[in-house]
Amino acid sequence: MVRRSVVAGCGAYLPDRVVTNEELVQRVDTTDEWIVQRTGIKTRHIAGDDQKTSDLAIAAARQALEHAGMNASELDLVVLATATPDHTFPSTATTVQAALGMTRGAAFDVQAVCSGFVYAMNVADNFVRLGQAKNVLVIGAETFSRILDWEDRTTCVLFGDGAGAVVLLGQDASGDSSDRGVLANCLHSDGRHHDLLYVDGGPSATQTVGHLRMEGPEVFKHAVKNLSSVVGEALEIAGLHTDDVDWLVPHQANKRIISSTARKLRVSEEKIVMTVERHANTSAASIPLALNDAVRDGRINTGDVLVLEAMGGGFTWGASVVRW
Ligand code: ACO
Repeated sequence: MVRRSVVAGCGAYLPDRVVTNEELVQRVDTTDEWIVQRTGIKTRHIAGDDQKTSDLAIAAARQALEHAGMNASELDLVVLATATPDHTFPSTATTVQAALGMTRGAAFDVQAVCSGFVYAMNVADNFVRLGQAKNVLVIGAETFSRILDWEDRTTCVLFGDGAGAVVLLGQDASGDSSDRGVLANCLHSDGRHHDLLYVDGGPSATQTVGHLRMEGPEVFKHAVKNLSSVVGEALEIAGLHTDDVDWLVPHQANKRIISSTARKLRVSEEKIVMTVERHANTSAASIPLALNDAVRDGRINTGDVLVLEAMGGGFTWGASVVRW
């Protein structure tokens, strides 16, 4: 007998304002054709001036709790992945905790940039497996629009804002791969690559917020290699093979990275949940946003095997295997 984290509900929130590639053409020297060909992105949602990361997270969390049929008072833990917190401190997770009316348990942020949601799922799952928490809210929420250099065409066209959330419930299970819930997690990082994707500000280094800087082609090279290998590792831990995968729910950075990774894994294109065209790269929010899409439109069903995978600044990368 083991403890498994079973997904009981999911939710998402996207700001109302949709920015098209055409709108960006007015701002920087780019074209819709370049952006679509290189990335697959057509639109992104951008938070209003009065919307903070916590506002996006709270909306997604409320929807996930409603989907799970649960009240915030039943939660033991909130784990929130973000690289764009409201403030340096307190954590955005504690702001969400207060807004939800949750007065017990614990809440904290996890920072692994675009891999944040996979890292947060792993942390939450460990709490559940050890019996330290039973009901956990896992959130990925970002306002990357606030850290973009809107004059830099090589980065500003790639990102968007949003939030997604899942509720995990601890349940006893047999311990084999037919169980529902999180079956395996695998995380990696390699800090030697910190200067290929980073923000050039921060409280200790510069006392400013800073802007995102990236060596795009270098990131691309590492992404496909790291993502395909970590998915293989996670599937092996779960005792499953790529043939068993019903849905690949990747971090939505770039259509070419997603398709190349799937090809390398021999996962067919129809099994990929792809939202990058509409959402762009929402960093830690992109996986739960994609998940929510495919659950709500009926693609993902109970018993399906999902692989979540992501890579981001650090570099960090990881994968989770989940039976829905
Ligand atoms: N519009 C028009 N031209 C552009 C733009 C733009 N928005 N941005 C760059 N260019 C130009 C470049 O200046 C360059 O011009 P040059 O040849 O005259 O020097 C040319 O386009 C090609 O630039 P590259 O950077 O080589 O283009 P590439 O095909 O590598 O695409 C991209 C760039 C989309 C950033 C790609 O490298 C990529 O997706 N990398 C991964 C980065 C990523 O997604 N990071 C997110 C976080 S990490 C993660 O989630 C995996």
